[in-house]
Amino acid sequence: MSDECEVVTTTGGAQAILDRRVGEVMHPVVGPAVEAARLYCEPARLAARLQRSEPLVLLDVGLGAGSNAIAAWRLSEARTAGPRLTIVSFERSLDALALALRPEHAADFGLDGAAGAAASTLLGAGVHEAARTTWRLIAGELPGSLAGAPAADVVFWDPFSPRANPELWSVAAFTTLRGRCRAGATVHTYSGATAVRSALLLAGFFVGVGEPTGAHKAATCAAVDPADLEHPLDRRWLARLARSTAAFPADAPADAYSRVAGHPHSRSLRRAQPSARRHSHAPQSPSGELHRDDGRPRRLKVESDP
Ligand SMILES: C[S@@+](CC[C@H](N)C(=O)[O-])C[C@H]1O[C@@H](n2cnc3c(N)ncnc32)[C@H](O)[C@@H]1O
Repeated sequence: MSDECEVVTTTGGAQAILDRRVGEVMHPVVGPAVEAARLYCEPARLAARLQRSEPLVLLDVGLGAGSNAIAAWRLSEARTAGPRLTIVSFERSLDALALALRPEHAADFGLDGAAGAAASTLLGAGVHEAARTTWRLIAGELPGSLAGAPAADVVFWDPFSPRANPELWSVAAFTTLRGRCRAGATVHTYSGATAVRSALLLAGFFVGVGEPTGAHKAATCAAVDPADLEHPLDRRWLARLARSTAAFPADAPADAYSRVAGHPHSRSLRRAQPSARRHSHAPQSPSGELHRDDGRPRRLKVESDP
């Protein structure tokens, strides 16, 4: 057993894993179970999407201790019917999962019972088949290993911070990811950094604000179809981008700002929203969001990122 990883107690009192090689804790503060639900499964509307008729592919980028993946696996296996979920986890080191699976830690990481048996099989054999869920491991270095990914519907993007993992918050990495995304795919990540959001826009995604992650901080959701964003970045975000000293990742092109300004996301902000607000007769919720016939939010109210 490697001693590169250690179980620590977060300030919120949860058990989490510290990777000593990078000096970062996976799911710091609130801990793995709460973060997996709040920042990944819930914003992805995974439970609802698993009720539809089509099989779903989830890319779990940065398997770590398996907390995000096992939260999705549990949602899927709790169903008695519905399409198959395939989870594809990407990881270069299995140390964290091996540590979380130890008997003294397994329950703290949601890896007890059938979930733990599934994760153990994944660790040993690289794949596990359950009644409604296939779970596969693609071992190796990201972002190159994304080349082996099937076309995705949902992505949990959970590497270490841009300081520790700059290559995974780059325009190049998100462009590779965009190439693996199907129509209707959504991407969920904890980072709300301006450079992360601009990289996603430069890679061709539409981008919105996700769940709060702390004082003046929020996660990020990106989507292939802008209709899948509840809170798209707004004009104030674009204005702040122009003033930001950390607006873009290192591999952004020299004309990055004009590319973002010319992105369909930015053009739609300039073009559509004021008139849509004035003239639409669609039903409106108390929060100001309009809802389409299929129940998905239709973005008219936009949020600025803190
Ligand atoms: C924040 S942790 C992931 C936590 C995980 N999602 C969970 O729910 O427990 C980031 C993970 O990304 C992995 N990682 C970082 N850089 C990588 C790379 N270039 N290729 C593959 N895996 C990488 C690390 O080994 C680490 O396990």
